[in-house]
Amino acid sequence: MKNNQSKSEYTVTAALPYANGPIHLGHVSGVYLPADIFVRYLRMQQRDVLFLCGSDEHGAAITLRAKKEGVSPKQIVDKYHHVIKNSFNELGISFDVFHRTSEQLHHDTAQEFFKKLWEDEKFVEKKSEQYFDQKNQQFLADRYITGTCPKCQYNEAYGDQCESCGADLSPMDLISPKSTLSGEVPIIKETKHWYLPMNRHEDWLKKWVKDGVLDGKSVHDPKEWRNQVVGQCLSWIDGGLKPRAMTRDLDWGVKVPIKGNEGKVLYVWLDAPIGYISATKQWAIENKKDWKKYWCKEEAGDRKLVHFIGKDNIVFHAIIFPILLKDHGGFILPHNVPSSEFLNLEGRKFSTSKNWAVWLHEYMERYPDKGDELRYVLTSIAPESKDAEFTWKEYQARINNELVAIFGNFVNRTIVLVNKYYDGVAPYRSALTEKDLDLLKLLEESKLKIASNIEAYKIREAQSEVMNIARLGNKYLAEQEPWKQIKVDPKRVETIMSLSLHVCAVLSIAFHPFLPKKAYQLQEILGINEDFWFTQDAETLIPGGQAIKKPEMLFQKIEDELIDKEIERLHVSEK
Ligand code: MF3
Ligand code: ZN
Repeated sequence: MKNNQSKSEYTVTAALPYANGPIHLGHVSGVYLPADIFVRYLRMQQRDVLFLCGSDEHGAAITLRAKKEGVSPKQIVDKYHHVIKNSFNELGISFDVFHRTSEQLHHDTAQEFFKKLWEDEKFVEKKSEQYFDQKNQQFLADRYITGTCPKCQYNEAYGDQCESCGADLSPMDLISPKSTLSGEVPIIKETKHWYLPMNRHEDWLKKWVKDGVLDGKSVHDPKEWRNQVVGQCLSWIDGGLKPRAMTRDLDWGVKVPIKGNEGKVLYVWLDAPIGYISATKQWAIENKKDWKKYWCKEEAGDRKLVHFIGKDNIVFHAIIFPILLKDHGGFILPHNVPSSEFLNLEGRKFSTSKNWAVWLHEYMERYPDKGDELRYVLTSIAPESKDAEFTWKEYQARINNELVAIFGNFVNRTIVLVNKYYDGVAPYRSALTEKDLDLLKLLEESKLKIASNIEAYKIREAQSEVMNIARLGNKYLAEQEPWKQIKVDPKRVETIMSLSLHVCAVLSIAFHPFLPKKAYQLQEILGINEDFWFTQDAETLIPGGQAIKKPEMLFQKIEDELIDKEIERLHVSEK
C-alpha cells in the first residue's frame, strides 16, 4: 500500500433515501452496505472519517405518496424517516449521523447556499410556459404530469423521465399530457424560475471527469473512477448540457429565499445533496467539532469526499452537485463517486408499486440475528460493475456453502480441538515448517489484497478474499491432520493449533468491516479485542497460554423450509 494512501482522511456520504417508503435489499446491496464496509475499514485504520446520511424529505416522491395515502407530507416523512433509520441501525450500518432535510438547520443551510449563488449571479432567471392544473390551482412539475413518451410511445411517462425507455424528458415533450392530481388536461401558463446554466460548465467538467484535472491541478486519478460513471458523465457532457431549473412551483420543500417568490421552493436535487452538509453541521454541533474541516478547502486539506450512490444518481453527484459546489466556492469536490448498478430480485426488477421487494425492516424483524448473514450475501452479489440478482436460493447457498461450511467450519474445528487437546488454553509454537511459513506468507498477501481492494471500492472482491483465508485454514488443517499427528508427534500439534488459532484471529479482524457482529463474537471466543486493522505484530495475535472459550456455532444452516416460505411470501404479497 502506498504511504500517502494510508494517511488520507475521508468524508463519506451514502445517498439520502427518499422518506417515502422503506429500504429494500437493492438499496442496501448497492449503496449502504459497501459504504459501511468502506468506512468501518477506514476506522479500523484509525483514519479520520465521517460517514453521513439522512432522509431526503422533499420533492414529488413525498407529496405524491402523501396524496396516495391521504395524509400530509409531514406524516409520510415522519413515519418513514424512523422506519429507515431503525432498519439501517439493525443491520449495523454505522452512520455518524442520520439527518433529515426537513430540519430547520437544513432549510437554513440550503437557503444560504442558494442565496449566495443567486447573489453571485450563477443562475439565469427565465420565464417559461408551464402546465397548470386549473382544478388544483397548481403548476405541474416533473412527476405531476404524465403522458405518452415521444420516443417509445409508453403512455405513462412522467414529465421528467420515461421509465420505460429511460429517456430524459421535459413536460412539454409529452404527447396528450394529463395532470396526475386531477387527471384533467392542463392549461399552459407563464411562470418564472432560476436555471443553472450547466452548458457553461462543460469544459472544466470534461477535464475533471476525464483526466481528473481541476484548475490545472491533478485532483484524482481518473482510472479510479468506475467506467460506467465516467461513461455516463461524458455522454451527458458530449450530448450538450442544458440549463436546468433549480426552483419549482410547489408548496412542499425549502422556500426560495428571495422576496416576492411565495409558492416557489428549491428543486429537490439542489436541496438534497446540500443535506450532506447540513448533516455534517448537525453532527459537528453534537460533537463540538468544526463542520468546515469536512467540506471546506481551507480547513479540509487533502480530505477526500466520496459519494456512494446508485446509477440513477450519477448526474446529480458527478455533474450538478460539483457545479454547485464550485460555483459557491470554498468547497472540496468529490474525489470519487462509486456508483452501483441495479440489483434484481428473483429475475425481475425491484418494484415498490408492485410490492416486488424484500424490505429491510421486515427482514430484520423476521431474522433479527441474521443481519450479518444478509450482509455477507448482499456483498457477495453486490452490483458493483454490472446488474446483479438476489434470489433466496442463492441466499441459502452462500450461507450454507460458505459461511457455515468454510468459515464456520474452520473456526469450529480449531476451537473444538484446542478445547479437547489443551483444555481451552492456547498452545505455544515450536520451530515452523516450510508449510507453516507458506501459510503465514499467504496470509500477509491476503491482507494486502483485501486492503487494496477496499480502497479501490472493490468490496465484493475484498470479501471473497477474506473468505479465501478461511479456505486456506481448512486446507492447512486437512494437510496437517492434527487429529492423526496427536498420537505420533504431540509437540508438532501444538504449533499446528497455534497457527490455526492465529488464522481464526486474522479472520476475526479481516471480517470485521463485513460481518461486525460475528467478528466480535469470534473475538470473544478467542479472548481478544482487536478493532485495529493489523497494526501490531501480525504473527502473534494469540499468544501461548491465552484462554480460549468453548466452541459456539457462529452460523446456522438455512433449511429449505425458510427459503420456500420466503419465495411464497414474495408472490403472496405481490400486488
Ligand atoms: N433521494 C434520492 C434517491 O433516492 C437520492 C438523493 S441523494 C442526495 O434517488 F444527494 F441528493 F442527497
Ligand atoms: Zn419512452
